[in-house]
Amino acid sequence: MASPYDRIAEIYDPWSVSVTEDVGFYLDEARRSGGPVVELGVGTGRIAVPIAAEGIRVIGVDSSRGMLDVCARRAALAGVEVDLRVGDLLDPPVRERVPLVICPFRSYLHLHTNEERRHAFRAVRALLIPNGRLVFDVFAPGADDIDATHDRWLEREPGIWERAVWDTDARTLTLSVRGASQTETTMSLAWLDPEEWLSLLEETGFEVEACYGWFDRTPFTGGEDTVWVARRSR
Ligand SMILES: C[S@@+](CC[C@H](N)C(=O)[O-])C[C@H]1O[C@@H](n2cnc3c(N)ncnc32)[C@H](O)[C@@H]1O
Repeated sequence: MASPYDRIAEIYDPWSVSVTEDVGFYLDEARRSGGPVVELGVGTGRIAVPIAAEGIRVIGVDSSRGMLDVCARRAALAGVEVDLRVGDLLDPPVRERVPLVICPFRSYLHLHTNEERRHAFRAVRALLIPNGRLVFDVFAPGADDIDATHDRWLEREPGIWERAVWDTDARTLTLSVRGASQTETTMSLAWLDPEEWLSLLEETGFEVEACYGWFDRTPFTGGEDTVWVARRSR
């Protein structure tokens, strides 16, 4: 099935070029685990390629073939291998059992119901060895962010525009991205409060070791971002 990311795969890297704050954090987690690492929603390899460059095996799963094609090119340019697989967050095509599953850059916001989120967390749990960890980040928008961006085309990077339409009742974001030569896509994201992510993790067999408010491991005390480190609990 086509993914909204297929249409922007070639501009994803320039669109996300200023997102660098999380790379060192996920790299540290990968080193600590010793690998192999499964990255769900691997995209173009922004995180996976630096991990593979450390000599750690990475299995990358994504539903967008276009993103995986760009990832394969990026890995080849870096001279590393990433084991790329087309698949879904809900049912990753991975038989291996690993010490670390990561889902960086808010990819879980692509899930819209608690049923899907539970399903996705249970699928991760099944991939993890005992005491293995799931590490991911998500966000919930603040009122200032919504006021500053709602329904306006903003140039995020030179020649790349985005428009955020926020629905605070449904807690959904309809995000459109537009680049040159008719490249455009629209995707739907859904957010939760941190307490809800915590409950879902606990319900699905995880113990939360840490919930950070940023990638420097500052504990979460409020704000838009949460970075979760959850250990398979039983
Ligand atoms: C925001 S990007 C993050 C990419 C990469 N992890 C990074 O940090 O740059 C979200 C990725 O999740 C993928 N994705 C979205 N929904 C998915 C699903 N249901 N199953 C698998 N991948 C999905 C998209 O194709 C996209 O590559």
